[in-house]
Amino acid sequence: MEQNQAEYFVIKAKENGVQVIGLTRGQHTKFHHTEKLDKGEVMIAQFTDFTSAVKIRGKAVVMTKFGEIHTEE
Ligand code: TRP
Repeated sequence: MEQNQAEYFVIKAKENGVQVIGLTRGQHTKFHHTEKLDKGEVMIAQFTDFTSAVKIRGKAVVMTKFGEIHTEE
């Protein structure tokens, strides 16, 4: 995958302790990284050869090309 051209998404934490969990690509789907964001912190990330899915725990705004999603608490 041309990572520089992969789509970016943005996560903005609306409370302390929001978790952004990366899940591996391929046959076995596992958590590989958990990033903790505090209120107001923003993470800008991409899907990569290693990361096929992302799980978000906690109150946050997620911005993708599909629009803006507010998680519920
Ligand atoms: N090392 C990871 C990767 O290259 C870093 C990463 C990219 C990541 N996107 C992510 C980690 C989303 C957590 C969530 O795939």
